[in-house]
Amino acid sequence: MTRVFSGIQPSGEMHLGNYLGAVRRWVGEQGAADAVYCVVDLHAMTVAYDPATLAERTRRTAALLLAAGLDPSRCTLFVQSHVREHTELTWYLNCVATYGELRRMTQFKEKGQGQESVSAGLLDYPVLMAADILAYDTDEVPIGDDQRQHLELARDVAVRFNHRFGDTLVVPRGTFPGVAARVMDLQNPTAKMSKSSESPQGTLLLLDPPAVLTKKIRSAVTDSGSTVRYAPEEQPGVSNLLEILGAATGRSVGDWEAELDGRRYGDLKDATAEAVVELLAPLQERYATLAADPGEVDRILAAGAAKAESVAAGVLGRVRDALGLLPKVTG
Ligand code: AMP
Ligand code: TRP
Repeated sequence: MTRVFSGIQPSGEMHLGNYLGAVRRWVGEQGAADAVYCVVDLHAMTVAYDPATLAERTRRTAALLLAAGLDPSRCTLFVQSHVREHTELTWYLNCVATYGELRRMTQFKEKGQGQESVSAGLLDYPVLMAADILAYDTDEVPIGDDQRQHLELARDVAVRFNHRFGDTLVVPRGTFPGVAARVMDLQNPTAKMSKSSESPQGTLLLLDPPAVLTKKIRSAVTDSGSTVRYAPEEQPGVSNLLEILGAATGRSVGDWEAELDGRRYGDLKDATAEAVVELLAPLQERYATLAADPGEVDRILAAGAAKAESVAAGVLGRVRDALGLLPKVTG
């Protein structure tokens, strides 16, 4: 069976772009593949963060993934710091990756820019990510376009490792969503919907109450003109709503264009708001149940970590042998 691995940062919040662009694919891949999903709390430590809220954000992120439809009986869901093999493999791979290739990473340059002090962890971020992937003999990594360069590095490091120490690591492939999976900001439809948006009104959070979702969609920026037409270049606002409406209802954009032909922008907004509220209602209900029982989420994560560890421990055994380390004799 194909092994799929992906990771998500423990922000504790998710927006509709995360759901339609990433998490919904994760949900769909369970069952069809041996799917392993990880909340990457160690990656969150590479920039300044608040230690008082990290644990709660990690648990909330896991609860959101479960509410979105990840099923612990059909996939492995765990927290990165619970499986020590990730940090161990990072060290080994650190001795294979080069300073030059890490320094060239776009995300490192962007996140490091203008900072008074940049942690070695930020430079090493892609090696930790490579370790996440390579510790599970991963075949496929569903990932956003912004992570393409990091995945290439993971592949390069795996190939180099195998070349130097003998065939040990599986070289993974990235799988990328189509352009259509990009959800744009409602207030600024030429920019991606994102947590760090300047206008919180432009971002639909998965846990926004129905009235808030509806209000945000009703105040979405539309375009001059009045026809409901899919034309991302000339009518980015209307086109974004049509895409959200299509994705939320499982119908094509063309279908909705035909249905709303001759109608007003207000009708498009009403239909979109209704569809998004309906899409998220079951997720919000499941989240409320999980939030009321944090012990249950922690138990699911503990079982996930145990499953993950049993796979990673096997791979690490092979890696240590290949590297020529003296085996520790037990007993
Ligand atoms: P981030 O929260 O930016 O780290 O993204 C987590 C995942 O959600 C990544 O796989 C992204 O590609 C995806 N994602 C983030 N924002 C959007 C968006 N506006 N539209 C579609 N996918 C997105
Ligand atoms: N760096 C990824 C992001 O910010 C998250 C991530 C960490 C990841 N480790 C991973 C994604 C391994 C895929 C595979 O989106």
